[in-house]
Amino acid sequence: MFNIILFGPPGSGKGTQSERLIAKYGLKHLSTGDILRSEIARQTRLGLEAKGYMDKGELVPDEVVIGMIQSALEENPEAPGFLFDGFPRTTAQSEALDKLLAAQNTEIGLVLALMVSEEELVKRLLNRGRTSGRSDDNNEEVIRARITEYHKKTSAVAEYYQKFGKVRYVPGEGSVDEIFTSLLNEIEQRRS
Ligand code: AP5
Ligand code: MG
Repeated sequence: MFNIILFGPPGSGKGTQSERLIAKYGLKHLSTGDILRSEIARQTRLGLEAKGYMDKGELVPDEVVIGMIQSALEENPEAPGFLFDGFPRTTAQSEALDKLLAAQNTEIGLVLALMVSEEELVKRLLNRGRTSGRSDDNNEEVIRARITEYHKKTSAVAEYYQKFGKVRYVPGEGSVDEIFTSLLNEIEQRRS
């Protein structure tokens, strides 16, 4: 089993590159943002709780997202590996994930960290906000709040995995194909 974290700030291309990576490697894609948006669409209790945080650009509480990931891991015992997108986002989430994976005799193989300038992130998200219907994309203040939350709580996740020598930084600006090629190179190097 080879498990990957695709890491990076809001708008860095995690979702875009995840689609390509799962097609190439057959990994199970676990995006906590996508799961939360589907809970909101179905108006579940969890979705209603999460919406208040997401609309403000704040992180949803750790216990909520850790519980979601635990269920997703349990529901996919046959997966050849997982691609985590937007999770973990705090040190507590990283520690919880490591424990959940260890219980299944597996671990994170690689953390791929996409690097994109703040100016480019805001530009991409405002642009997508015109059509996405995502309530956290159509307001620059909320986009900035998401980026601030990333610096305050999420960038520490890369430092956490760096201690284990698992992080590779990849330039996240350029064409989608170029970035995908860089990600593949890192994965192939790690697996060989
Ligand atoms: P989440 O859904 O994870 O959103 P995010 O991390 O803020 O980032 P995005 O999904 O907007 O961007 P992305 O990196 O996937 O980039 P994408 O490929 O879409 O989280 C949303 C919210 O849910 C959080 O704020 C939080 O409230 C909550 N949440 C989620 N997980 C949580 C957790 N673990 N703990 C607590 N709370 C959690 O690309 C962005 C745009 O750029 C697109 O329009 C795309 O077409 C474009 N683009 C992509 N690549 C390129 C390129 N190379 N050049 C130009 N444009 C590009
Ligand atoms: Mg995404």
